[in-house]
Amino acid sequence: MSQIKIFDTTLRDGEQSPGVNLNKQEKLEIARQLERFGVDRMEAGFPASSRGDFESVKAIADTVKNTSVIGLARTIKSDIDIAWDALKGAEKPAIHIFVATSPIHMTYKLKKTPEEVVETAVRMVSYAKQKFNDIEWSAEDATRSDWDFLAQIIEKVIDAGATVINLPDTVGYTTPAEYGKLFRYIKENVPNINRVALSCHCHDDLGMAVANSIAAVENGATQVEGTINGIGERAGNAALEEVAVALKIRSDYYPFETGLKLDEIKRTSDLVSKLTGMYVQANKAIIGRNAFAHESGIHQDGVLKNAETYEIITPEMVGVTSNTLFLGKHSGRHAFKDKIKEFGVELTDDEVKNAFDQFKTLTDHKKEVTDDDLYTIVMEIKTDSSTVGKYHLENFQVQYSTENVPTATVILKTPDGKIAKKSCPGQGSVEALYKTIDNIIEETIKLVDYQLNSVGGGKDALAESHVQLIIDGEAVNGRGSAQDVLQASANAFINAVNRYIIKRSTAGKKMLVNE
Ligand code: KIV
Ligand code: ZN
Repeated sequence: MSQIKIFDTTLRDGEQSPGVNLNKQEKLEIARQLERFGVDRMEAGFPASSRGDFESVKAIADTVKNTSVIGLARTIKSDIDIAWDALKGAEKPAIHIFVATSPIHMTYKLKKTPEEVVETAVRMVSYAKQKFNDIEWSAEDATRSDWDFLAQIIEKVIDAGATVINLPDTVGYTTPAEYGKLFRYIKENVPNINRVALSCHCHDDLGMAVANSIAAVENGATQVEGTINGIGERAGNAALEEVAVALKIRSDYYPFETGLKLDEIKRTSDLVSKLTGMYVQANKAIIGRNAFAHESGIHQDGVLKNAETYEIITPEMVGVTSNTLFLGKHSGRHAFKDKIKEFGVELTDDEVKNAFDQFKTLTDHKKEVTDDDLYTIVMEIKTDSSTVGKYHLENFQVQYSTENVPTATVILKTPDGKIAKKSCPGQGSVEALYKTIDNIIEETIKLVDYQLNSVGGGKDALAESHVQLIIDGEAVNGRGSAQDVLQASANAFINAVNRYIIKRSTAGKKMLVNE
């Protein structure tokens, strides 16, 4: 078995998903979990892109110890300098420098000749080498580039000091056979290729990102890049949990293994889903809610006789345990704290107190409080612990009957600490509620997506709502949970607005200089 390295880019390419906007604390939380999951390398962000990204990459670099922390940079000196400032405190710092190599990108985006692209790439890799030992170089849009040109530029950037060469399928255009051939070609036509590691990076526009990544591995790639739950730009990136479990389950066929702790998959997936507000579809491979559900009578009968008839993966292998009854009405704070520790989430004393109070309230209304319920409460608190400078829902009321027009009345505390109260009618309860909140909030808001799900089963289950809003032209995701569906819906809406406000005041300050 040869060992394949896993390069996680959830915090960089994954964060480029529309509406996703993680703050520093949330990024740190995900970084810690990625370290626990056992990824070899994590791309923490693009330090030169904004003050917020710089701060987050720096915090991750200063915290994570066992995983190499990487920052993205263009072939620009200031990007490399800023990346070094953010990463120099890391145990294993690395830089990821990219430049486009396809004719369409070089002509229209970069407005450079191929010779100029080679010259810039070599000059910037040499420059970065003065600071970083570990340099990954990416040929953006490699799969639409001329293979001979790729071989020439790769040879030169290796001589300049690159230690990893990545061939991204930037627009998700390639096929498994073609991508495999590209890796073989580069291995056979770049004389110094054995001095570096070869990496694949696939997008899922044609639904082939995981298959393409595995084809690359079969043809010489020793590193796979991707994200948790496959989140990312447009259709997303290769889902790392799918790559890892495919290699494990088909180890009779693939002589490759990863160092990932597969039983951390569920926890990692849940954390990323909750913090990004990107709901995992029920039929998603490995980790979707239905991945281990058997609906048809024939399948159920087979599984009862022998689980292997229809189950190739056990839930335990990927960390899916039965959603056990957690603690009851009479459980004490001590047992509660221990349970939170098991989740791997760090809470301040105030946050623990708040979570405990909410747990106690829930036990008054819900017969069985499960791990999933508690995790939902904890994540709600993690993102909404401070109300300073944000909107806060003080109170609301919705009147609904099948005969009359639904009407909502909402009392909100605004970011400047004032109390605002309004009422509005709507076609339905949620519309009335959202219209009223929208009326109080200054920003121009459009609701583009709204989802409501239950956390587990039962009539008394917690409700979890996800929304995507366009605020002042920018997509932002929000989520909220509560026992009541309208309260969860209101929380999700306000959460998205608050995320936008925070982003505007901190992370939104762009630092990018022109390429
Ligand atoms: O998809 C891509 O080309 C990228 C590069 C920045 C490596 O994400
Ligand atoms: Zn990408």
